[in-house]
Amino acid sequence: MAAHGSGGGTGTAVPDDEEFWDARYAERDRIWSGSPNAALVREVGGRSPGTALDVGCGEGADAIWLAGQGWRVTAVDVSGVALDRAAEQAAAAGVADRIDWQRHDLAAAFPEGRFDLVSAQFLHAPGELFRERILRRAVDAVAPGGVLLIVGHAGAVPEEHRRTHGERFPTPGEVLAALALPEGEWEVRRSEEVTRTQTGPDGQPTERTDTVLKVRRRG
Ligand SMILES: C[S@@+](CC[C@H](N)C(=O)[O-])C[C@H]1O[C@@H](n2cnc3c(N)ncnc32)[C@H](O)[C@@H]1O
Repeated sequence: MAAHGSGGGTGTAVPDDEEFWDARYAERDRIWSGSPNAALVREVGGRSPGTALDVGCGEGADAIWLAGQGWRVTAVDVSGVALDRAAEQAAAAGVADRIDWQRHDLAAAFPEGRFDLVSAQFLHAPGELFRERILRRAVDAVAPGGVLLIVGHAGAVPEEHRRTHGERFPTPGEVLAALALPEGEWEVRRSEEVTRTQTGPDGQPTERTDTVLKVRRRG
């Protein structure tokens, strides 16, 4: 993963998601690093492949990595600019036939079906409520025995504050509470903050703390 920001634009008004993210991706040929997110690799690496849903897949590095591990992936994003880029990378990696790219505003439309893995990595955007709504739909999309992995920023670095429209960054416990998981049907496999080193825009190493929540639906 590259240095993940949390949006684009400099004003305080909250733009439409598609417009907001298309503009953000159009700023440069590539926004993220092209590498899969460390938490995904760590948490899913040893797991037998099945079906996976990547919500807010961005430029597709996670979906491409999963496909390379044998998963059949449905990857969704609101930005057509990001998805075009992702599909190109998947073709170059030889995994295009294992990924179904879908463009949706996940707050309005969610893919049908149930998946062995549902992954939401840095699904940050203006408006906390719709993120919660999307994550609750993500809960419904987990198959019996399947896993939901939610990774996010524990906070924005100062340079990014102007991009976040005042977004709050929930703790793993707050994310878990917001999911409102039915008692007895789920087990919490991980709920923690993890600090990692990444290369900043100036090429210097910087530390970021992520929130990691991994829950499993009992089979
Ligand atoms: C910070 S990026 C993370 C991208 C990718 N998961 C990664 O880790 O590289 C957040 C992504 O969520 C997508 N997104 C934001 N709001 C969305 C929505 N309502 N529906 C679908 N995707 C959305 C954005 O287009 C963007 O690609």
